[in-house]
Amino acid sequence: MVAEAPVLRGRGKGAARPPLRLVDVVAEEAERFPTGVPELDRVLGGGLVPASLVLVGGEPGVGKSTLLLTALGAMSRERRALLITGEESVAQVKLRAARLGGCDDVEILAETELDTVCETLERERPAVCVIDSVQTLWSSEVGSAPGSVSQVREAAARLLRVAKEAGVATFLVGHVTKDGSVAGPRVLEHLVDCVLQFEGDRFHAHRILRAVKNRFGSTNEIGVFEMTGAGLVGVPDPSELFGRTHAGEVGAAVACTLEGTRPLLLEIQALVSPTDLAMPRRVGTGVDPKRLAMIVAVLARHAGLALGGADVFVNVAGGVRIDEPGADLGIALAIASAAKGVPVREGTAAFGELGLTGRLRAPAQRDRRVEECRKLGLEPVGGETLRQALGAALSDSAN
Ligand code: TYD
Ligand code: MG
Repeated sequence: MVAEAPVLRGRGKGAARPPLRLVDVVAEEAERFPTGVPELDRVLGGGLVPASLVLVGGEPGVGKSTLLLTALGAMSRERRALLITGEESVAQVKLRAARLGGCDDVEILAETELDTVCETLERERPAVCVIDSVQTLWSSEVGSAPGSVSQVREAAARLLRVAKEAGVATFLVGHVTKDGSVAGPRVLEHLVDCVLQFEGDRFHAHRILRAVKNRFGSTNEIGVFEMTGAGLVGVPDPSELFGRTHAGEVGAAVACTLEGTRPLLLEIQALVSPTDLAMPRRVGTGVDPKRLAMIVAVLARHAGLALGGADVFVNVAGGVRIDEPGADLGIALAIASAAKGVPVREGTAAFGELGLTGRLRAPAQRDRRVEECRKLGLEPVGGETLRQALGAALSDSAN
């Protein structure tokens, strides 16, 4: 194992122990195994680490159970894969499995009592186990109701120990609600090895899986899926899907962002509409509100756009959330296009971090972004300052 959890230690009677020098520590890079879902492997950092504990959070209905059952099905061909269901009955899971296909060898147990679950894992020792969901587990030693903070914490701590000792790679499903009223994955983040967040609107087909914590790899990888009638299908080339605008449409631009190691083209849409509000609204979906406020202010100050009397709305395609400054220029372009009523020049994509002085900074991994733009036949917008870039990208160059 790469890392042994500190909780395993300290069972002695308090006797002092000699520390080791790091050079003498023998640590073998753990052999990962594929989950059979390439987009999930990517987010985990190249496969599942044996005996690790992975929390998968997301709103109800986003597709957590579907994703993990698909993965269990694929893994069950090579190794023992167990599903512990507390939410759905065995029969319900069977129906879902029939829809997905390939799950015949998955073992299943409907159980919510924590001691029973732990004992079972210790005896059966499957290579991988999914607990759906951690909020349904309860221990009689903890006084409160299932789903409460203390129950969820106790369950995660016990399962962590079992995962390490019995060598079971364990996925914990955790529901998050928008208002955070249920004791959700947040209270467990420090305990587990990886936290994956499954995002997306259940009314739209696309889902984004994102690593928010990963002890064994990078945290900014994303996986993209489409929910279809036959389960979740990975989208290996999301730029193709999200990186297109309609020719001549005002208020749309293509931004090239970097998600982990993967450059991603995203359509950004903006609407600028006059308002009588003393505090005009700046509303972004998929964009950090502070970043959006900054971009609007820089546009007003350094590109002469009169946005003080207008509401500004920004939307990122596909429900993707941007948290990288390299997308600034793309966002600024979409807003400028909307404000001026001029479409962005066809066949262009934008990336660049916007400084407060209106100067553009080359973002990380510039070459890979250029490559991604070219792959889709788009030319990156050039310019050293925001004003120059707007002049180059907005067709009438009235700037
Ligand atoms: P589910 O995995 O049950 O979500 P979660 O465990 O996160 O609560 O997925 C629920 C939604 O997915 C449900 O509304 C139906 C839809 N779905 C499909 O569209 N196709 C499918 O093949 C499956 C299994 C589910
Ligand atoms: Mg579920």
